Amino acid sequence: MDRIRIIGGQSLKGSLPISGAKNAALPLMIASILTRETLTLHNVPRLSDVRLLMRILGNHGVDAAISGKRLGQSEESGETITLSARDIVDTTAPYELVSRMRASFWVIAPMLARMGEARVSLPGGCAIGTRPVDLLLMALEKLGAEIEIDAGYVVAKAPKGLKGSTIDFPKVTVGGTHVALMAASLADGTTIIKNAAQEPEVTDLAECLIKMGARIEGAGTSQIVIDGVARLDGAHHTVLPDRIETGTYAMAVAMTGGNVLLENARPDLLQSALDVLAQSGTTITPEANGIRIMRNGGDIQPVDVTTAPFPGFPTDLQAQFMALMTRANGSSTIHETIFENRFMHVQELARLGAQIRLDGDVAHVQGKSRLKGAPVMATDLRASVSLVIAALAAEGTTLVNRVYHLDRGFEALEKKLGRCGAAIERLSGEG
Ligand code: UD1
Repeated sequence: MDRIRIIGGQSLKGSLPISGAKNAALPLMIASILTRETLTLHNVPRLSDVRLLMRILGNHGVDAAISGKRLGQSEESGETITLSARDIVDTTAPYELVSRMRASFWVIAPMLARMGEARVSLPGGCAIGTRPVDLLLMALEKLGAEIEIDAGYVVAKAPKGLKGSTIDFPKVTVGGTHVALMAASLADGTTIIKNAAQEPEVTDLAECLIKMGARIEGAGTSQIVIDGVARLDGAHHTVLPDRIETGTYAMAVAMTGGNVLLENARPDLLQSALDVLAQSGTTITPEANGIRIMRNGGDIQPVDVTTAPFPGFPTDLQAQFMALMTRANGSSTIHETIFENRFMHVQELARLGAQIRLDGDVAHVQGKSRLKGAPVMATDLRASVSLVIAALAAEGTTLVNRVYHLDRGFEALEKKLGRCGAAIERLSGEG
């Protein structure tokens, strides 16, 4: 198994490219099931989750192919993937595949909308809390689906097709909004989604569905109205830049000091996180082709944050921000409101010398920690990258184990940080 070795203490300088967003690419790929025509996605990040989803879709009969390099594309441009779901050959998504990637559960929506049936394994336990799917199923039931749970599988049926309806989510759910959007696009009549998630990835999915012929208004606000259509067509769509990758590298620069241009990054996708970073003493300058992040010499100021649905501070940046706050010039509190049990990184940060006290869903982070390199590992993607950020500022050598978590969500992490001067290296096949 690969490991990543980091020798801390270098400041970051130069520029690095931000990839397409994983959390947009996955639902966009799943939307290909809605049409018999070809969906072409550009700027898809090279990530193991994307590869796995190609396999999962292939199991349903979707032909998924990575196009060769195009004129003007560099090694750093994302990939172009074509997806053709001409004939769906299997409406079952088996446990072996769904349990490896939660997002694949969302195939239930396009499958049901187009084929009138779907049998999808429940995703099972997850390292960050229980993560139920009750609201996703509620949305499908509102659209007229009959749902049964049978031997660990959700069996959804709508032999006469789905019918437009009002779906009022009691809680903001990104997954629920993706599912409702896809299903309602092919339902008969009008659907209103109330308390919809406003995350940019939801808007990206809606924009792609509109290109495919869907009639959707209000994506990006809390109320989305969808007029169902009988069929959808193929389309070309470019995946938006990854706001979590952007925020992660911005925090890395805040941590080490330095001056880095995050190419292709868009400030509007993570304004709340950028505001918090600015309060911590980081200079943020939007430029024509990205965002420049600078911290030269000054202390890191403590800032309290509470995670919230978009446009609030994203739960996916909570672990990284906690790493930054261990070096602040004072104490801070971090309140996690989206997921229970999303503090597994605390124990591993402590191995590097961080002093953090947990009190339910609040972490009290003592600043001015002297971080010292150590072997660490983490149980999820964002937690793993928080250890990388801490290691960049730690004295000596840190070995990050279980790199496969990072490979799920961060394209070429060691190359991107390495080209900005970090002493970071992947050790293949060891550990
Ligand atoms: C969530 C994050 C998303 C992040 C992703 C991966 C929010 C609002 N969503 O999306 O930004 O990228 O994790 O870390 O910040 N819930 C239910 N029943 C359901 C579905 C969800 O109770 O059927 C609850 C969840 O347990 C959670 C909340 O609703 O407390 C938000 O869930 P949801 O947005 O659906 O999770 P993801 O789609 O995984």
